This record gives sequence, structure tokens and C-alpha cells, in this order.
Amino acid sequence: MTERIAICPGSFDPVTLGHEDIVRRSLAFADRVVVAVGHRATQQKQGLFSIAERREMIDAVFADEPRIESADFTGLLVDFARTRNARLLVKGVRAVSDFEYEFGMALMNRELADDLETVFLMPDVQHSFLSASLVREVASLGGDVSQFVSPLVLERLRERNSGGAS
Ligand code: PNS
Repeated sequence: MTERIAICPGSFDPVTLGHEDIVRRSLAFADRVVVAVGHRATQQKQGLFSIAERREMIDAVFADEPRIESADFTGLLVDFARTRNARLLVKGVRAVSDFEYEFGMALMNRELADDLETVFLMPDVQHSFLSASLVREVASLGGDVSQFVSPLVLERLRERNSGGAS
């Protein structure tokens, strides 16, 4: 049987427990999940963490699960998905406010590649308001984000916000 490969694309700056929840839930219908950090080639330095750092954190968070791997891509998501022989794109939708943006992207991706299906998953209710941008902001202001990220990511945030290596 053909392996079912799903792509979970995003910025993952950094990976949160909400992302982790969605990625792990994808294994209910995919044999392998590629957690793909999307970026523009000219914007490597943008964001709190570099692309390599984001991938390192993703790899560490999913180290227990051989069916999950990290990747990064530039250009169109549909082109990246083709290179991985993936037929599924998995996105987390937290609230109605996410839906409009995600709906537009899903329909555009369908126009670009009709053989790719986008699947929306809802995170666990405790993660339904969680976003990496809120985590970055709260952490940068000294707030406690330990309920929202894995201990390893928490440590990276602490290092970064105390002026650690960039
Ligand atoms: O975490 P984000 O910011 O929601 O991630 C957005 C991402 C990387 C998934 C999205 O911007 C994307 O798919 N970028 C790749 C470029 C592309 O294919 N654009 C057209 C999408 S309709």
C-alpha cells in the first residue's frame, strides 16, 4: 500500500504544545508526518529563532516518534509537498478567526494542486487560544509560558530572552 504522507506546514517560531498536538493527531490518518518550516530564502534571519533552530526544536520535541520528521522549504508549499510525494496538508484551526485565512490558502493550494487535500484539525481545547506569536511576546516580557511549550523550548526561549546566542 502507498505510504500516506502528510505535511504540517507553518512558521514554528517556536513549536508550541498546540503544534505538537496537531502533528501527533495527524498520525491517526497519516503514516508519516513532515513538519515543514516555511520561509523565504532571503528572510533566514527573520523571526526569533533561525530556521535551523526551529527544526532542532521540532526534532527534539518529536524525538520519541520516528514517523514524524522536520523539514524546511522555500517557495510554494504545493511544490514542496510534491517533492515529498505527500497528498495531505494538515493545518490546525483554533477559532473562527483562523478559518477565513486558512480557507483562502486551502482553496488557493487546491487551484495550484488539485491532487493535494487540506485537512483542518482542531487542537485540544486547552490549546485553542495558543499561538507562537503570543508565546514569543509573553516570554519576551518575562511571563511564564511553561504551560504552552515543551521544557526544551522553554529553555531556548529563556536563553534567547536573556540575551543568549541568536
Ligand atoms: O505558521 P504560519 O504563519 O501560519 O505558516 C504559514 C505557511 C508557511 C504555512 C504559509 O505561509 C505557506 O504555505 N507558505 C508557503 C508559500 C505558499 O505556498 N504560499 C501560497 C499559499 S496559498
